[in-house]
Amino acid sequence: MEGSSLRHWKVIPILLITLQFTTNMVLSLADAPFDKQRNIEYIKSSCSSTTYPRLCYRSLSIYANKIKTSPRLLVDTALNVTLKASKSTSRLMVKISTIHGLRPRVAAAMADCIEVIGDSVDELQQSIEELGHISRSNFALTMSDIQTWVSAALTDEDTCMDGFAGKSMNGNVKTMVRKRIVKIAHLTSNALALVNNYASTQSNLP
Ligand SMILES: *[C@@H]1O[C@H](CO)[C@@H](O)[C@H](O)[C@H]1NC(C)=O
Repeated sequence: MEGSSLRHWKVIPILLITLQFTTNMVLSLADAPFDKQRNIEYIKSSCSSTTYPRLCYRSLSIYANKIKTSPRLLVDTALNVTLKASKSTSRLMVKISTIHGLRPRVAAAMADCIEVIGDSVDELQQSIEELGHISRSNFALTMSDIQTWVSAALTDEDTCMDGFAGKSMNGNVKTMVRKRIVKIAHLTSNALALVNNYASTQSNLP
């Protein structure tokens, strides 16, 4: 009789441990989709303040699990995505510019574009580097630098398109260049909106 009640008492801690283990497992299984949903919602709501929210969401949601709900990682990723697209556009334009038989005015516009998009790649690179060194003590100054760099990149993209203004420039080259430049200009504009958002929120201090 006494022996059997002792056995009962020994079983209780095992039951408790098992219960706790099961509870933890259920909670962590429930956490994963919850986190994922929260990360996606964070990107969606951040993108809603940009000029091209659908492009913003499309280009950033694939990094949701890396960004989580960090405004700094959001800006970093937006700049990275923009830089990558700008570099690939730059490479394409260099390729197009070597096509023989381009009309002289088109060839000149291409040469100008290659130069200003090169500048814009440098400016985006500079922004990413500065963001890497951001701290509580240099936050305002660094963010203001980044705003300047990203705005300059946007101006360079506009300058490239201005070179192709006018019907006389119409043709395959203009169509191809415009499509790419518009895309990177929209990505840059979105990145700038996210940068401005980050800069203006005091609670974002690293
Ligand atoms: C941005 O790109 C750099 C270089 O490719 C990489 O090391 C870094 O992790 C990227 N940052 C984010 C937030 O994805």
